Order: sequence, then C-alpha cells, then structure tokens
Amino acid sequence: MPKDMTETRDIFTRRESEARSYCRGMPALFAKARGSELTDANGRTWIDFLAGCSSLNYGHNDPDMKAALIDHIASDGIAHGLDLHTDAKAAFLSAFEEHILAPRDMDHRVMFTGPTGANAVEAAMKIARKVTGRTNIIAFTNGFHGVTMGALAATGNGYHRGGAGMDKAGVTRMPFDGYAEGVDSAALLEQMLSDASGGIDAPAAIMFETVQGEGGLNAASPAWVKRVAEVAKKHGALLIIDDIQAGIGRTGTFFSFEEMGVTPDIVTLAKSLSGFGLPFAALLVRPEHDVFGPAEHNGTFRGNTHAFVTARVAIEKFWADGSFQRDLAAKSRLITAALEEVAGLVPGARLKGRGLMQGVDVGTGELAGEICDRAYDKGLVIETSGNEDQVVKVLAPLTIPNETFAKGFNILLDATRDAMAERSKLAAE
Ligand SMILES: Cc1ncc(COP(=O)(O)O)c(C=O)c1O
Repeated sequence: MPKDMTETRDIFTRRESEARSYCRGMPALFAKARGSELTDANGRTWIDFLAGCSSLNYGHNDPDMKAALIDHIASDGIAHGLDLHTDAKAAFLSAFEEHILAPRDMDHRVMFTGPTGANAVEAAMKIARKVTGRTNIIAFTNGFHGVTMGALAATGNGYHRGGAGMDKAGVTRMPFDGYAEGVDSAALLEQMLSDASGGIDAPAAIMFETVQGEGGLNAASPAWVKRVAEVAKKHGALLIIDDIQAGIGRTGTFFSFEEMGVTPDIVTLAKSLSGFGLPFAALLVRPEHDVFGPAEHNGTFRGNTHAFVTARVAIEKFWADGSFQRDLAAKSRLITAALEEVAGLVPGARLKGRGLMQGVDVGTGELAGEICDRAYDKGLVIETSGNEDQVVKVLAPLTIPNETFAKGFNILLDATRDAMAERSKLAAE
C-alpha cells in the first residue's frame, strides 16, 4: 500500500499507461462519490457534470441499487453466470419488458453482449451484415461508436481512427444532419443510394446516434431521423440507433428516438443501462433479425449479474410511471436557460444538444478547455466534446437536485467569466 499521497500519485505516472486520459485534466485522487458529487482523499468535493460520460445517469451509489446489490452479494447470489438462466436475469428481463418495451410497443429481443458499448455496436453491425448478406454500413460525420476495430470503422474521429494501425473497412461515411450548411443530407443519401452510379454499395445498415455525444452534441431533427429511417427501409438496410450515450433518459425519454415516429431494427445500449456504473451492454433486436446462432457472438461476460440486479432496481424506481420523465422535462428547460447565460458571455457561442445532453459551442477547443480547467479548479467536473473539442458539455446526473445543479452552473458561469476576462486582458496587452 502506498504510504502517503505523493507516493500514491507516483504510482500512476510510474505504472499506469500513457493511454490514460480524463485523469490528466482532473488529477485529484477521488475516493468517494454520492449522488451528484465526487470527493477526493483530502475531503474536497466536486459537483459532477460528467456522470461517467453518461454512465451514471442516476448519480453515484443510488441507495436502493446499492442496498439490492449488497443483499444479493450477502446472500451468495450468483456473481458470474455466463449466460445461464439466473433469477437476477429473469427479474431484469421481466422489469425491462413490463416498464420499457411493452409500453413502447417494442417486440424486440434483448441480446446481452460483452460489457462495453463497442461490443454491442460490433454485434449490431455483424447482425445487419448477416441478415442482409451485405457488407457496407452507412455511418455519419462526427459519429462515435467505440474504438474496437469494427466499431472504429464507423467512428468519425480522426485521432481514434489513427490508433487502429490498419485499414478500417466496410463503412461509407455520409454527412450528418446539419453537417454541411444548406445541404439536406437525408435527401442526398437517398439520391446517392438510388443512383446506380452513386458509388455507395447497397448498405446492410444505416447507423447513427440521434444526438452525437462525443461528436459535439449535434442533435438530428426528428424529420431527418424519420427520413433516414424511410431511406433504410426502402433500400433494404437495417436501421441501427446507437443509444449508448443518448439513451436511458439522457435526452428526456428512456430512448432518444421516442416521439420521432421510428422503430429501429436494432438499438445499442450500454453506459447507464446498469444504473450503477457497472459494465453492462445489450442490444435490442427485432425478432425477425435475431439471427445469431448460440454463442455466434459470444463472450465470457455477456450479461453482468450484478448489473442485472441494479438495472432492475433502476427501471422499477425511475420508469414504472411517468413522474421521472416529467422531472426530466423540467430539468431540461432549466439547463437550456442556464446555458443561455453561459453562451451570453462568449460572443458567437451557440447552444447544442437536447434534453439533459446539452452544451455550449464556444468556438474553439482552446477556450472550451480553459473553461473546463477553471471549472475543475473551482469544484466542478465537466468535459468538452466536438471535432475540435469546442463544446462545453453538460452531462449531469439526471437525478441531480436543483440546488446542486444551480451551484454547478454558477461555477461554470464564473469559470467562463474568468476565461473571457483573461482573454480580454491578453488582447489589451
Ligand atoms: C454513442 C456511443 N457509442 C459507443 C460508445 C462506445 O462505448 P464503450 O466506450 O463502452 O465501448 C460510446 C462511448 O462513448 C458512445 O458514446
């Protein structure tokens, strides 16, 4: 065990890989977390506007999920069960069917994949290819789908793509909604697919996030989503919605595509699916596309039994009636109003995203980074996103109390004011 704090810190530089990232900008030694706050080993507290990059939508250590998990462990409940039938899995599936799928008229089957989002995306792409006998998947500018080879081919980010060290095959990239000014990119997609010389091989799937989480909080309009769904259907391609970041309440409804009039063939879920920050991913697939044979897409950790326990509690606690969703609508209006204040401090700044997945495009990654660094120094954990990291992105837990939320926003306002004042000072010198 390390003897003091200095030694504790040294272990990271001495032994942890250079691939580490978040900890570089937020170097505290975090020790505890509850609700919407993180505390370091010295007892200093930060408000959390990052929420494990949307993996902690219900906050840290929800008391009901924690109690159920402790009970499960204390009573020698199954910890790892491969994909055997377990009581925890049955209870999760029953709750998911009753409170999520049935009320939304979704007849999808649930396939548990390896525990990361990228693994669910890989499985979705493979299913689409198996169903259609085609290879090509259409993905979009600024889309982020993970960094394992199959998923990385669909990810737009050049930095991540550069890490592959080999060709990334089987994906055609098209402009996302609003990417090219004045261009209706859904109409362009339809035109190119319908043109025998359009140069796009018949697609197995069209895959996108309705709000691009890592790509800068670009929110597709419902009309665009609907049109792209029609294009997919017309051209015999499966519609895959990657709801790994935008799902589980983040946009204000359980799925990000609700109220858009589309039913995806496949939905990928991970991050907040467990409700407790446990590794857990799944995809929802329409029964007619449930084509994998037993273990064809296997993995030792398909379905995390501890996550079944916490995810079941999350669904029963937050989604059994409409009250949580109504709270989210109110909170989303609060975020918009607060971010308008932040944007008002930066000439040319624009609001991005929707629901509880909103942010401010401040124009440059340098300024966004400066704002986030200053916010961290003042007690707020917050991150950037976008192709140049130019968006200050708010991903607070959905359960954050209004008072904590207001405190966090005051820190963000202060940080933005300070960063702008520093810029004015430098410009005057
Ligand atoms: C939309 C989306 N898809 C896929 C992934 C990949 O998930 P994971 O990091 O768990 O592999 C992410 C991660 O940020 C994501 O935001």
